[in-house]
This record gives sequence, structure tokens and C-alpha cells, in this order.
Amino acid sequence: MEIIIVSSEAVPYVQTGGLGDVVGAFANQLALKNHHVYLIIPFFRNIRQNRSKLKLKICVSALEVKMGDRTFSCRVWKTFPAPNLQVFFIEYNDFFDRNNLYVDGFEEYEDNGERFSFFCKAALDLSLKIKLNPDIIHVNDWQTALIPYYLKTWYWNEPSFKNTASVFTIHNMGYQGRINRSKSSFLGLNWMQMRSEEFEDQGKINLLKGGIFYADVITTVSPTYAKEILTEPGGCGLSNHLSRRTIDVTGILNGIDDQLWNPETDPYIPENFSRKNLFGKTVCKANLQKQFGFEVNPEIPIFGIVSRLAYQKGLQLLMECADDIMQWELQFILLGSGDPSYSEFFQNLAKRYPGKAGVYIGFQTELSHLIEAGSDFSIMPSLYEPCGLNQLYSMLYGTLPIVRATGGLNDTVEKFDEENLTGTGFVFDDISSNALRNTIGWALSTWYDKREAYKKIQLQAMNQDFSWKNPIREYESVYRKAIRRRKDWH
Ligand code: ADP
Ligand code: GLC
Repeated sequence: MEIIIVSSEAVPYVQTGGLGDVVGAFANQLALKNHHVYLIIPFFRNIRQNRSKLKLKICVSALEVKMGDRTFSCRVWKTFPAPNLQVFFIEYNDFFDRNNLYVDGFEEYEDNGERFSFFCKAALDLSLKIKLNPDIIHVNDWQTALIPYYLKTWYWNEPSFKNTASVFTIHNMGYQGRINRSKSSFLGLNWMQMRSEEFEDQGKINLLKGGIFYADVITTVSPTYAKEILTEPGGCGLSNHLSRRTIDVTGILNGIDDQLWNPETDPYIPENFSRKNLFGKTVCKANLQKQFGFEVNPEIPIFGIVSRLAYQKGLQLLMECADDIMQWELQFILLGSGDPSYSEFFQNLAKRYPGKAGVYIGFQTELSHLIEAGSDFSIMPSLYEPCGLNQLYSMLYGTLPIVRATGGLNDTVEKFDEENLTGTGFVFDDISSNALRNTIGWALSTWYDKREAYKKIQLQAMNQDFSWKNPIREYESVYRKAIRRRKDWH
């Protein structure tokens, strides 16, 4: 198939979280299966800065994009990283050459509606300009949610889109792209679309909502999350709207890039390791302990966190019991960026417990790999988690996850069963700091008192298969379904 993927993030070009990991790896995997894949992302500042390293070349010097009564002229860059895969970057510096992707300090950029509606149209105009005939346009999250609408309205009569089906993957219902109504004509929305059946949401334009209405099929990133978003609170206010499309919603678990995240080959860690030989893991642990000024001692377990610092991640549960946990014989490391109220708390914690709690605020890929590799446990107390990737990386690196049973965490971590010695991690249900504290205590006592059991579940965790093999097959079948839906719509 000829497949266009449109996303605001893709590794190795730009990312703020898991969306980037998933889109980047997914595009590669589809290309490996001989589909013709065209990935389109914005030319954000860090991509501009790395354009020579990334070997980008200008492929269209003036692409005209009409938005409301204005016409924008943009440039398009391109690279060809693998057979069957071409990546395009939409350059419009007023919109994308900024410090951050979506937020200015703590607030969303006021012109996110203009920025991302422009990006959506530019992606479609690029497809026309370079004469693609896509079977599928696969869009991701609110940033690209206008594309299914544009395809069925403004572009309905374009011969090359006549049979193009749209697939909308929702990576997170918590971010919907709520835009001021006054932007409707720029976005190309008419009064029809401003009904509550389509884009209107409490007086605003809700891009995710419109995407749900217009996409031929909808997917999300784990089977449990697919169920959770059909009711509240999982639907973040849109469960009724989404329920109208229940038969078109599928949950497909994310895979991971086993080139980037593989303890046997990981280039970021000081010593590689495998299930058969865990020596490298002790080197990583010692390295991590040194880096954070902790006692270098393989007997003291490290509990690590790599996370966006956002409400969704349930860090407030940890904050409430942090002082209790710090009394125990363990070391704690957090790498994260985001909401300053969390970063302040954890930076303060590190000051109060030197040698025991270590915190790094910022986005640091290399350190994230070292934490996954060198820790003994990882903590993800998420309030909700569409899929979650860190628990997958943790398991493959022999770091046992401590998670709340929600969304993808529920689908991927099997609770340790002390009697039968089965499972791959420590799981709790309640949204309460007590439940989290008890579960960390359970993990800690397993470490100190039942080391053989710890080692057994560690190997079980490392044995899991989180490759893209099955997910890609499921997406291929979703693509076929989307094409059928598209025909019905004709
Ligand atoms: P989400 O997409 O909700 O942030 P995921 O678990 O799906 O959660 O993915 C998070 C991804 O972002 C992982 O690859 C993780 O390693 C990475 N990540 C998050 N915060 C940081 C950080 N501060 N530094 C480096 N990598 C980070
Ligand atoms: C979102 C979700 C996360 C998921 C990622 C990739 O950011 O919060 O759970 O793993 O997207 O799909």
C-alpha cells in the first residue's frame, strides 16, 4: 500500500514523549514490510539545527497552502532514511522555529490552531504536489486530526484522494486541541462543522472531536485503553461522542524499536547485557550510582522513573508517600521534564535526601537509557496510561516495573504471583498513595527477602516480546477495513 503518516513527532527527528518513539518506529516497520511509506512532520527548530547531520535536502521550494483568505508559501525538506521510507519536513519558521513544540512556558501557544491546521493542509498539498496516490493517510493525535475532515470536504474532489482512507490513532485522550471559535474560518470550518456532533465543544473548536467524527477508522494504543475511553473518566469528556463510532475503534498495543531499545546492542549504555549474562547490568547500575553521587553498592536497589512530569503520570501519589519511602533502604532516581510543580518537589526531595534521591530535570535520551538499564525497579503510578513505553523498556532491561493497572500498563505487565512465581512486575489498582507505598514495599521486600523470586521474574520480564510483528499485522487489517469504510462512504 501507499501510506502517508502525518505526525507532529517522530524519532529520531523530534519528540516530547512516546508519540515520537511510536511513529518513528512504526514508519520504519511498515516500510520493512514493503509498503511505500511517506512520513510528514513539521520542520521544528531542533530539526532545522540538525539538518546537515540528518542529511535533509530541499525537495519543494515553494508550496502554496491556502488557509481561510490567506495563502502561505512554505518549503519542504526531505530525507530518505531507509528503502521504501521517505520523510518530509514542512518548513514555516513563524510557526515551527520556536523553543518548544506545543507550549510557551506553561501555556499552550495561542496560535496552535493556526500552526497545526496549516501543517495538516500543507501535508495534503504536498501529497498532491509530488503526485502521491495514497491508499491510507494515517494521522496521530489532535495535531493532525483535521486531515480526515479536509479529505472528506475541501479535498473531496481531488482525483488522487478519491480512494484515500483516513486512519486516526489516538495516543492520548487527555490532549484534545481546544481552539478558540474565532479561528474557524482560518481552519476552514463552516457552520455545519460547528455543531456539537462534529467539532463544537462547550463553545470551542475541539480538534480531536472532529477527527473522531470524520476518520474512516479510529485506533488507540492498547486494548484496555480502547475500552476505557468509551466511558468516563477515560474519555476525558468525549466518551459519548466516541461511542457513536464504537465499531470503528480498535486498540492495538504499541511495539518498540528493538534497534534503539535492546540491552544487547544499546549504544547509550556503558556495558551491554542480556538474559544470559547480566554482568553489564551491574556495570550500568554502578555507573548510575556514581553519576548521582550515591554509594556504589549492588545490594541497594535503585527505583527509577523516566517520565513527562504531567498530571496523567500519577506522580502526586508518589509525592504523598515520598518521605515514608525515603526511610527505607533504597535509592531513588527521577528523570523528567514538564510541569514545574512536580520538578520543584522532586528537586527539593533530592536536596533533602542527598545520596539517596537523585533528580535530573530535562530531556536526556542517554540518561533515560542508563536509568532503564541500571535500575532494579521502575515506578509508573499513572492515573491513566494509553500504552506506556517505559514499562516495556524496563522489562526488557531486567528492571521490574511497579505500575497501576490502567490502559497499556494493564495489558503489558503481569502481576507477580508469589505462589507460582509467575508475572513480570508489581501491579496495584487503587488510585491512592497507600496502594503505591505498599506496592513499593512489596517490591523492596521481594528484593531483600526473596532474591531468587526476583531473579526469576526478572528473566520472565526480559523474555517478553514487544516487537512490532503483531501490531503491524493488526494495523494492516485496520487499513483494509478503513479502505472498505471509505468505499461505503462514497
Ligand atoms: P508519554 O508518551 O505519555 O510521555 P510513554 O511511556 O509512552 O509516555 O513514552 C515516554 C517516552 O519519552 C519514553 O521513550 C521515555 O524514555 C521518553 N522520555 C520521557 N521523558 C523523558 C526525559 N525527561 N528524558 C528522556 N526521555 C524521556
Ligand atoms: C501517549 C501516551 C502513552 C503512549 C504514547 C505512544 O503519549 O501517554 O501512554 O505510550 O502516547 O502511543
